[in-house]
Amino acid sequence: MSASWAALRALKTNQSLRALFAADPQRFGRLSAKQDDLLLDYSKTALTADSLAALLALAEERQVAAQRDAMLSGEPINRSEGRAVLHTALRAGPDAEVRVKGVDVMPLVRASLARLEGFAEGVRSGAIAATDGGRFTDVVNIGIGGSDLGPVMVTLALAPYHDGPRVHFVSNVDGAHLHDVLKGLDPARTLFIIASKTFTTIETMTNAQSARRWLVAALGERAVEDHFAAVSTALDKAAAFGIDGGRVFGFWDWVGGRYSVWSAVGLPVMIAIGAQDFEAFLSGARAMDAHFRTAPLAENLPVLLGLIGVWHRNICGYGARALLPYDQRLARLPAYVQQLDMESNGKLVTRDGAPLPEGLSTGPLVWGEPGTNGQHAFYQLLHQGSDIIPCEFLIAAESHEPELAEHHTLLLANCLAQSEALARGKTLGEARAQLVSAGLPAAEVDRLAPYKVFPGNRPSITLAYRKLDPYTLGRLIALYEHRVFVEAAIWGINAFDQWGVELGKELATALLPAVQAAPGAVADPMTQGLLGHLRGL
Ligand code: F6P
Repeated sequence: MSASWAALRALKTNQSLRALFAADPQRFGRLSAKQDDLLLDYSKTALTADSLAALLALAEERQVAAQRDAMLSGEPINRSEGRAVLHTALRAGPDAEVRVKGVDVMPLVRASLARLEGFAEGVRSGAIAATDGGRFTDVVNIGIGGSDLGPVMVTLALAPYHDGPRVHFVSNVDGAHLHDVLKGLDPARTLFIIASKTFTTIETMTNAQSARRWLVAALGERAVEDHFAAVSTALDKAAAFGIDGGRVFGFWDWVGGRYSVWSAVGLPVMIAIGAQDFEAFLSGARAMDAHFRTAPLAENLPVLLGLIGVWHRNICGYGARALLPYDQRLARLPAYVQQLDMESNGKLVTRDGAPLPEGLSTGPLVWGEPGTNGQHAFYQLLHQGSDIIPCEFLIAAESHEPELAEHHTLLLANCLAQSEALARGKTLGEARAQLVSAGLPAAEVDRLAPYKVFPGNRPSITLAYRKLDPYTLGRLIALYEHRVFVEAAIWGINAFDQWGVELGKELATALLPAVQAAPGAVADPMTQGLLGHLRGL
């Protein structure tokens, strides 16, 4: 690893966050950045002016801006798959021109969006009707990974904007998932969307076939053309499934699955919230793209977020980060960012296929739950556990429930309190003083005080914004996408392939005949015993 890394390590301060704030009352102002109302506060990390400058120098050395421009201009930066990476084109707006191999793809993008809007609005108005001429009241999206997590997360996040049919999601090949979703539904009122970039994913194909049987059993074979739509890059395979060409919505190989919610994969969202709010969602992402493209690195939110990630992973050695939205409707954001981040940056080779430089760690574990629920579950470990886990808080100034204003006040107070508690901690002296002032006898003070010590100095960042509307959600998702890009650019890895998911798929396919037959058919002793046990039950 280069000298820049060594320089950075030397800049790791021993000063506590308390001391850093005491020494610089302007610390919040110096270590925060904004894109309009969206604030990134990173003053409660151990970064200093010097280490931040060194991180920005590392970004220059690793040519983050040039790599960003290569992505945005449609170069085939996903080298292992020989593809461009252009999810940004999907939200580029009416006047943009984006070329892939010399051809402007924007006319295709715009035409696809117009088709999607026509279909979504048709379903919402009832103009696109069920086989009996009645309205669809329920839409079931069948997909997995990137063909599921984005729409699931966004649909929940934008619940206050729903004014279309109810939207449900089935992803797991576990029959329980399909069964439980279909249990409450009427086939005559249900539209299925089969979403799969490849249209080969075994989970999705299995669920789609079972859903088809459920529909046909109730309404007959002819209902399939009215009750099924598909989203895929493999139009021929969708047609082979029996889905009418007018209801197959395509996208392109330059849209990665986990970056695809802006494409036809967002169809269930559009049906739920309408084309206008979906456009606001796209325009939020467009605003973040413009910020990423033009803001100086030192004020650039995705760049700063990526550099903080690199600081925590590579300089501080933290193996995880917790995503803690103080917003119940962002309950699926951690799962969404988990795929975005871990499938992108969980890599062992550089983008040229060489081993990573000695000692370079790549993507951390990403996990989380909404606050305040998490406070009553796992925050104990965040405050007093033996490992340090950087936390990322998200909070809106305004809720969508003015009639429950005191709830939001409590939510906000809790969010602010957690980042302060993690940073400040509580010393043994403070713990003792508190017990003394509560009137406890000296022996009790001695006995209890050690349990009440919080080491503090635990880093967190906070993203704060006015309100979780479609525009802001678009900005937030694009921010996380670009952060993943910045980290990958610094580590020199390809964030856009996912070879690591293949081995499990291969082995599942190879094991299937044996699982269907006798346990003795499995040669591998790693699997023989378990399968034998399960078969014997
Ligand atoms: O198994 C991983 C993966 O390939 C993801 O990258 C993708 O989002 C998911 O499977 C679903 O793939 P598809 O949309 O092709 O069904």
